[in-house]
Amino acid sequence: MATGRSPTNIAVIKYWGKRDEALILPVNDSISVTLDPDHLSATTTVAVSPSFPSDRMWLNGKEISLSGGRFQSCLREIRKRAQNVEDEKKGIRIKKEDWGKLHVHIASYNNFPTAAGLASSAAGLACFVFTLGKLMNVKEDCGELSSIARQGSGSACRSIYGGFVKWCMGKNNDGSDSIAVQLADETHWNDLVIIIAVVSSKQKETSSTSGMRDSVETSPLLQYRAQTVVPERVLKMEEAIKSRNFESFARIISLVEKWNQSEGTPQVAYTFDAGPNAVLIAPNRKNATLLLQKLLYYFPPQDNDLRSYMVGDKSILSDAGLKSIEDVEALPAPAEMKTPSQKFKGDVSYFICSRLGAGPKVVTDESLALIDSVTGLPKGV
Ligand code: ADE
Repeated sequence: MATGRSPTNIAVIKYWGKRDEALILPVNDSISVTLDPDHLSATTTVAVSPSFPSDRMWLNGKEISLSGGRFQSCLREIRKRAQNVEDEKKGIRIKKEDWGKLHVHIASYNNFPTAAGLASSAAGLACFVFTLGKLMNVKEDCGELSSIARQGSGSACRSIYGGFVKWCMGKNNDGSDSIAVQLADETHWNDLVIIIAVVSSKQKETSSTSGMRDSVETSPLLQYRAQTVVPERVLKMEEAIKSRNFESFARIISLVEKWNQSEGTPQVAYTFDAGPNAVLIAPNRKNATLLLQKLLYYFPPQDNDLRSYMVGDKSILSDAGLKSIEDVEALPAPAEMKTPSQKFKGDVSYFICSRLGAGPKVVTDESLALIDSVTGLPKGV
């Protein structure tokens, strides 16, 4: 049995459009930040036993089908690379040629709402590949693992690393050079604060796959974006990350318009994925607390419960001087806004405060495994 934990990531240069749907090959490079796994991650346990009659998987306690092409590609690619496993203490000996005959039970759990459009499949498929690879003693490096994770869910390839990550689109038809690389680890620019406004936790109506397909088939601008706009931006973004140039970083992914305009230089950056949730990136704690005061002025909690309104790093609330709902009610209207009186109570479900995080890790504490070693089934099911 092996257990792993993998982070989610949010792209600052987006992946949009595939040149090969089966292999999940994109039409442009993308760049992401990996978020702290304490706040947003998938944990996955993979167990193997000669007594398992078939491969099975449970997600958040419910059995799901493993028959989809994406899971099957990842399983096949990891099994192909499986090596001998020997653990004298536990009396385990598996020869590499035997892995193909053995079935696995997989239990995964996301520490955030799976349907909320927060890249759960990126964390989930990265964890699936990483943990299967650990169980089967796969020796391939992170680049190779990222290429396998990509076949499970495109953006999963970026969750194989911490910090800042670039998914290189590659040119080869077989996808062998469509891999992720780490641009800088999570310690490189660790004063960035990331606040996510979760507007809706409902499953989005249009999946990214079908949205991308529509764009590729109908948009005359998509080719221009992929071939002309993104390559230039990727270079600028890489330079901004290298030199920790927030002004350049923020300008590229756009501005929180009014505040930034009124200050003259960017105070916070924002980005959206294919969903309604806003991801806001502040260069430091000070700007993050100012941002939070402005956000909570307009979007106070529906039920007045401040602690459950902030998920992840809750200490940002006290840093912003917001210890109670009375503190929120006493917030001044943001000076730079023209219509400060209108408020939008209930429009944000909750906020998540996070930071840059590390890549996938093995969970060594066996008590945290999600599968019961006696029954071979998920704990508590
Ligand atoms: N899709 C969403 N979350 C997942 C997870 N944890 N594992 C596999 N697929 C997922």
